[in-house]
Amino acid sequence: MEKIRAAITGVGGYVPEYILNNQELENLVETTDEWITSRTGITERRILKGEGNGTSVMAEQAVWDVLKKTNTDPLEIELVICATVTPDMIFPATANIICDKVGMKNAWGFDIEAACSGFIYSLATASKFIETGTHKKVLVIGGDKMSSIIDYTDRQTCIIFGDGAGAVLLEPNTEGLGLQDSILKSDGAGRQYLYQKAGGSAYPPTLDTVQKREHYVHQEGQTVFKFAVTNMADVSYEIMQRNNLTGDDIQWLVAHQANKRIIDATANRMGLSPEKVMMNIQKFGNTTNGTIPLLLQEWEKQLKKGDNLVISAFGGGFTWGALYLKWAYDGVSINQ
Ligand code: UT7
Repeated sequence: MEKIRAAITGVGGYVPEYILNNQELENLVETTDEWITSRTGITERRILKGEGNGTSVMAEQAVWDVLKKTNTDPLEIELVICATVTPDMIFPATANIICDKVGMKNAWGFDIEAACSGFIYSLATASKFIETGTHKKVLVIGGDKMSSIIDYTDRQTCIIFGDGAGAVLLEPNTEGLGLQDSILKSDGAGRQYLYQKAGGSAYPPTLDTVQKREHYVHQEGQTVFKFAVTNMADVSYEIMQRNNLTGDDIQWLVAHQANKRIIDATANRMGLSPEKVMMNIQKFGNTTNGTIPLLLQEWEKQLKKGDNLVISAFGGGFTWGALYLKWAYDGVSINQ
């Protein structure tokens, strides 16, 4: 009998309405639209407004989107994994909050925190519950309200990040479609280059940590860029080699959207032409765990059964990795 694989059978997404464009950032920090566009590829990003609105607000919409498209009752979902660095609260898990909001009363759930690689870590983790045959319907959510941890006086970081969330439904497949292979890596020595210092157990919140702006993202951009460009390209190439794939065999690169130059370098290393590269960084910026599911949502209608996708990411930690996935359905059949 053919092995049980975890296949994505539906995708949903949500971005908030408010658009923060480069012109508005020019009024906040010393920067220019020209600099941001040429150095990152970003022209605008979305921001979630409203007091008390956390990541779960966007995730809930993304989940409803995928449930409706796939005609799935919330009660059918057995497990929910939410990848986020901006949980609604330190605890309980945002996955639990989403389950309650959507009425997924038969599901258990937890969060995964692996910075910008969280969604691919979560997809790989979730797939094990499908492959072992213990679960039939698993939701993997990736979402972040990055604006809640960004310092809008720091031009190194505030130009990059935005808010958004996406969700995918995973189900068993015995036709050879779904997740084929994954390579996941981490190196904690990289933690000094990209982190949010305070708010955890090492540096709990105090007046001092707030005044020193230690609850915001700190990034040494150039160092992270060098690690990202090398590691994301290397791991994407490694997964191709391990599965005897050439650039011609791959229909789509679904890469974490941190900087257009990093994505271009990865595609180049893989021998892929630009039309095979999903890109939404120009309009959403880096939504951290939202980037990959939001790409899949936007391209869903163009995806065909049997398409070979390489999904890769790099993020704080450092964490990085690549997945090789065979798409399981024809997107043209999606009504919405
Ligand atoms: O998603 C998680 C992983 N994160 C990433 O992968 C992000 C990786 N890093 C990057 O994408 C890039 O490093 C940045 C976009 C953050 C910065 O771009 P860069 O080309 O590496 O710029 P840089 O830090 O080397 O700075 C070049 C110059 C500096 O000026 P001087 O010293 O040459 O006079 C900066 O002060 O650009 C200056 N600069 C800016 N100028 C205008 C830095 N930020 C800005 C800005 N506007 N926003």
